[in-house]
Amino acid sequence: MHCVRKVTDDLYWVGANERRLALFENIHPIPEGVSYNSYLLLDKKTALFDTVDWAVCRQFLDNVEYVLNGRPLDYLVINHLEPDHAASIDEILLRHPETVVISNEKAFMFMRQFGFHIDGRMDEVKEGDTRSFGNHTVAFVYAPMVHWPEAMVSFDVTNGALFSADAFGSFGSLDGKLFADEVDFDRDWIDSARRYLTNIVGKYGPHIQALLKKAGTIDIKLVCPLHGPVWRKDLGYFIEKYDKWSRYEPEEKGVLIVYASMYGNTEAAANALATRLAEKGMNKVWMYDVSNTHVSYLISETFRLSHVVLASVTYNLGIYPLIHNYLMDMKALNLQKRTFAIIENGSWAPKAGDLIQEFLDNELKEITVLNDRITLNSSFGELNEPELESLANSLIESLSQEG
Ligand code: FEO
Repeated sequence: MHCVRKVTDDLYWVGANERRLALFENIHPIPEGVSYNSYLLLDKKTALFDTVDWAVCRQFLDNVEYVLNGRPLDYLVINHLEPDHAASIDEILLRHPETVVISNEKAFMFMRQFGFHIDGRMDEVKEGDTRSFGNHTVAFVYAPMVHWPEAMVSFDVTNGALFSADAFGSFGSLDGKLFADEVDFDRDWIDSARRYLTNIVGKYGPHIQALLKKAGTIDIKLVCPLHGPVWRKDLGYFIEKYDKWSRYEPEEKGVLIVYASMYGNTEAAANALATRLAEKGMNKVWMYDVSNTHVSYLISETFRLSHVVLASVTYNLGIYPLIHNYLMDMKALNLQKRTFAIIENGSWAPKAGDLIQEFLDNELKEITVLNDRITLNSSFGELNEPELESLANSLIESLSQEG
């Protein structure tokens, strides 16, 4: 049974929602689901933009055939080869022997690597090439590393629709509402969008910047990403978010406290710091237990906020493993331009603080680490009061600075 939506008079969303998958890319939890978007243009020729993940292929095929309504599928445009979008290429080609695949050289190489049967059906395009489907002319623009090297975007110069591949995507199933202006995006979607972008493409900020620069030269009216809602209003809101995330600039000033605590003593220090900050008027403070928060959520919050307090017990004379994992993810995703503070605990040899400091100094770029540190020997108590006061003041002073 079909489930489609009209995007414009002659463009249809023919994608599908996935609500059964626990882990996107088998690593990131998606309790809110995810959509795999595909778009079908009914011009003098018909053109399908990207396919979907294998898990939702049946729904997708029903959608495509319903919208085609017996017409041939003349073209399949492939912007991105990751299997969450490309897995159903062969199914389309099997059902439509008339279809020609439009994509670039690297994408065709990947299609062969994945075993797709494309020989004799390829129309290779290069940066800036165009194809006309009748009334609509579409230009192809390379977007390497957003999110794979073959990625490109397709821009319909006739109606201003940008088929943006992974760019401007979000986690979250669409629940019938295709357009960003049909939901309260800033309230209900922005956290999913940030978690998607920062964890999936966060490493490639300069490449996103390059794409934004190209996008700035064209008159975009509609953004059709491969995940999440379609944008037809307030494009500037989302473009500004993408600009910030890809420049590694925080969205807002505030304190993220991530703590690792085995018996509650390090957590007590983290609680005391949050409380002291609130007493001093700083209420933009968010606390997370590293042991029960998936690192993708921590990364998203780290991209959102300007200041990060890492509170870690010493474990096997090292950093608590889950804090270490979080630090490694920050490095992998190129996080930079943040201010950090450290709380450490160790009953006989507190080492975590120095090791965290060393990691931050050597592995991340444009990082400030506040000199004030709280060191616990087993538990948080009166002896730590001066350090607590000093760190709270230091954070507030740093938060009050320009920039
Ligand atoms: Fe949604 Fe890079 O694929």
